[in-house]
Order: sequence, then C-alpha cells, then structure tokens
Amino acid sequence: MRIGTLGNGLMAEALAGQWVKAGHEVMIGGRDRERAAEVAERIVAAAGSSGEAGSSGEARSLADAGSRVEAGSLADAGLRVGAGSLVEAAAYGEVVLLAVPAEVAVEVAGLVPAGRTVIDCTNALDHRDFTLAHPETAEAIAQAVPGVQVVKAFNLAADAVWRNPPAGLGVPICGDGGVNVVADLVRDLGCVPVAAGGLVRAKLLEATAALAIGIWVGGGNVRGMFPPLADAFGTVLPGES
Ligand SMILES: NC(=O)c1ccc[n+]([C@@H]2O[C@H](COP(=O)([O-])OP(=O)(O)OC[C@H]3O[C@@H](n4cnc5c(N)ncnc54)[C@H](OP(=O)(O)O)[C@@H]3O)[C@@H](O)[C@H]2O)c1
Repeated sequence: MRIGTLGNGLMAEALAGQWVKAGHEVMIGGRDRERAAEVAERIVAAAGSSGEAGSSGEARSLADAGSRVEAGSLADAGLRVGAGSLVEAAAYGEVVLLAVPAEVAVEVAGLVPAGRTVIDCTNALDHRDFTLAHPETAEAIAQAVPGVQVVKAFNLAADAVWRNPPAGLGVPICGDGGVNVVADLVRDLGCVPVAAGGLVRAKLLEATAALAIGIWVGGGNVRGMFPPLADAFGTVLPGES
C-alpha cells in the first residue's frame, strides 16, 4: 500500500518506519524537503540494520539517491520510502498519516485529495494542565475536508512505543470508513486493533489520551486502571489472557 505522511516528526518516523518494514511504500512529507529526506533515510537505515525482509538492498539504493529522491520516482526506482513536500505526500498516499500539531491538523489535512483515508494521530494536548486545547479534532477534519475518510488511531501511545511496539498492544480505532485498512496497519505493527466506535467517538479517544497522559506524567499507573475483567467477574473475554 502507498502511505504518505503529513509531517516528518517523531510520530511520522516511528509509524512509517514500522510500515516500511512491513513492506509498504511510504513517502515522508514535510514543510522542508531536506528534513523529510533525512527522516526517510533514517527509516531505511533502521529497516536495513534490523534485517527486515527485503530492506537492505533498498536501504542502499535510497542512501545512494539521498535526498534527491523525487516524489514520482518511488515506484519506478523500486524504493519503499522517499520524501516529498506535504502536497506530494498527500497526493501519494492511499492512506495518509496526519502527524502534525493538532492546532494545524484541519488546515494540513485540507491538502489530502478526496477518496483517501486519513489517520489522525494528533492530540490537542495543553501540556500545562493536560486538558484538550480544542476538542474534536478528528470530527473537525471530517467536516472540513470533503470526501476523505478520517480514522482516529495511534494517539494513545508515545512515539517511542510505536518504534518498538510490545506484541499484542491494543490500539483503539474510531472511524466511519477506512477502519479496516487502518486495522491492517495496526496488525502490521504486531498490535491488535480495538474497534472503538465511529468517528463520533473519536473525541472520547482524544480525551482519553489527555487523561491518560496526564496521569502517566504525574506518576500514576495507567495500565493498573484497567485490570483484566476476569479479576472482577471471573470471566475471560476474547483477546484477554
Ligand atoms: N510524540 C508522541 O509521543 C505522540 C503520541 C501521540 C500523539 N502525538 C501527536 O502526533 C502529532 C505529531 O506529534 P510529533 O511528536 O510527531 O510532533 P513533532 O515531532 O514535533 O513533529 C511535528 C511535525 O509537524 C510539522 N508541522 C508543525 N507545524 C506545522 C505547520 N504549521 N504546517 C505543517 N507542518 C507542521 C513539523 O514540521 P517541521 O519539521 O517543518 O517543523 C513536524 O514535521 C501531534 O499532534 C501529537 O500531539 C504525538
């Protein structure tokens, strides 16, 4: 699958790195081509050093091409990762990861052509008190950008988690369309998609992230808040063990 990223920061590198290893073709999109190209090169180097299937040859070819990799040359050159502008990455991806600050999410998502799936991993977190600076980002994107399928996912865990996700990590997904393809991208990380409802529930996922991150930063045990149901009811649900 072709995946574009809007943003070349921590989340884009972490998630795109996993999807490249899983065999997808990725274009890192950034405001600054050189920064985007550096991220693409790091992803290829990391995929090569981890010995992922088929990555070493491509790592060499990307390194040779360096930051001169052009948007249109990805498929022709057989490369699995390259870099481009935000507009180019938005046009490239069948699925587009929106990984920019939440305050510019709607504006940047406006670059995505109709018919694509946008993964919104943003958190509008106000780091002063761990509240939401503005609510309902995913729904706002869906309202503002016609014809795209917005899926909220990957916003609960830190980029460091996505760089090395624990097997079986549950990843809640909210969306009305495009959820199956995002679920497959979750599985590509060795994680488990958790159907968390339609896009109307994305605001709950955004609030959950703010609450959990605030507790976590305050030294609380977020995992301990959700013990297996078996502990309470003596019942084991599918997916629990
Ligand atoms: N990091 C985490 O652990 C984590 C976890 C869950 C969710 N999130 C959410 O994921 C999103 C991305 O986080 P991140 O950690 O990857 O951030 P980051 O490392 O700071 O990267 C942000 C990216 O957004 C770009 N950007 C900033 N302002 C922009 C604008 N006005 N127009 C276009 N692009 C712009 C930056 O471009 P330049 O390089 O040109 O500055 C950069 O590529 C945020 O909404 C964050 O809340 C982060």
